[in-house]
Amino acid sequence: MSHDVTRSLELYKKAGERIPGWTQLISRRADRVANGVSPLYVARSKGARFVDVDGNEYIDWIRALGAIILGYADPVVDGAVKKQIDCGSLHSMNSALEIELADELINTIPSAEMVRYTKGGGEACAVAARIARGTTNRDVILFCGYHGWHDWYQSANYLVDPESGEYPFAGIEPIGVPRALAGTAIPFTYGDLDMLGRLLTEYQGEVAAVMMEPARSEWPEQGYLEGVKELARRHGALLVFDEVSCGWRESLGGMQKYLGVTPDITVIAKGMSNGYPMGAVVGSREAMEPAKAMFISSSYWSDNVGPVASLTTIRELKRRDSETHLAEMGQKVAVAIDEAVSSAGLSGSCKGFPATPNLVLDLPDEALRGKVQTLFIQEMARRGVHCYMGFGPTLAHTEEDVRITAEAVEASLRVIKQGLENDSIDDLLICDLHSEPFRRIVR
Ligand SMILES: Cc1ncc(COP(=O)(O)O)c(C=O)c1O
Repeated sequence: MSHDVTRSLELYKKAGERIPGWTQLISRRADRVANGVSPLYVARSKGARFVDVDGNEYIDWIRALGAIILGYADPVVDGAVKKQIDCGSLHSMNSALEIELADELINTIPSAEMVRYTKGGGEACAVAARIARGTTNRDVILFCGYHGWHDWYQSANYLVDPESGEYPFAGIEPIGVPRALAGTAIPFTYGDLDMLGRLLTEYQGEVAAVMMEPARSEWPEQGYLEGVKELARRHGALLVFDEVSCGWRESLGGMQKYLGVTPDITVIAKGMSNGYPMGAVVGSREAMEPAKAMFISSSYWSDNVGPVASLTTIRELKRRDSETHLAEMGQKVAVAIDEAVSSAGLSGSCKGFPATPNLVLDLPDEALRGKVQTLFIQEMARRGVHCYMGFGPTLAHTEEDVRITAEAVEASLRVIKQGLENDSIDDLLICDLHSEPFRRIVR
């Protein structure tokens, strides 16, 4: 099977000489995929596919790490953006688009009464942390899940030995993060109400917010989120849901709408603008209004491209009934992949939410999982499918994409089966081992 990514590898080498860390997002590093086989540089993307700089075409299930939801280069969103660019991408004073988008978000997200904008998710989490601290006049944030690169959050690394494998972020050191912040952001384990209660008591009167991804890949246990909300309220802390990754796909109103539990503040980004930089913090008037006295300000937060992309994306998601279609397509992929797993003679199945299924293989030895997943990414790349183990569709994925993907899954799993039977996984890997740079503290 010929599959050449020479140009990608050359560019990556050049990048390493000019850009510390090669890429702007850790998830786009070569060691996150099958290094030596997976594409590293993309020439163009459209719909559910992209062509890499070596001319190979792929069906893409990573969809720009969740930022693409309608499909790449969506004609309606891109048309609105192009029209806006002709009227000015950024003005000297404000654009009424900010208010139009605020109304759309307030009408869409159950807990939204006021809105602030940013250009990305981590930045929006930092704004939420600032607002929560300013509104409550308290410093400590209890968190669960991934919330970006900023000091307020990464300072939690100082609480554990990064090599210990314990949370928050095994293997990533907090280099450059002020040590003085240690103890101001403290992790808690998803699903463990007792632990959260103990932390709130230990830091009685100091906790500004409980910040968490309400769900990431599995449903919370009955009553868990309600319990978190009740605990936060009882201790005078704001509840912040980070819906940067879990928002938009299962429900346009976010996981909070799907699960029926509303926070004080919500952080959104990624899918809200289908590939244009945008993030937002939305919340109740009570939680958000004190922000008018806080220093939260940046030049490009007033741009017109992100808001017009976001407005158009949200309206298109509604017009195209994304909730129904993403869930239906997600289920079709899950069924097709489950069939491919059994045809290949392995055991395992797709788990997760309807619109975002994840393949979990049953393995004879858990220690093999890293290698098996790398081999899977490698074999799928060789067959023209760019993926990890997740297969959440965009609205541009077709039944043909699902069929081709399922064929590739079956063929790739046959290779894995042979590797498991002959104890030859290492020999079959023609790439470096894929690495998971941090553990997210959420199930
Ligand atoms: C839950 C969550 N919060 C925050 C972020 C950071 O967003 P960004 O990469 O846009 O800064 C991410 C990104 O993966 C995320 O999944």
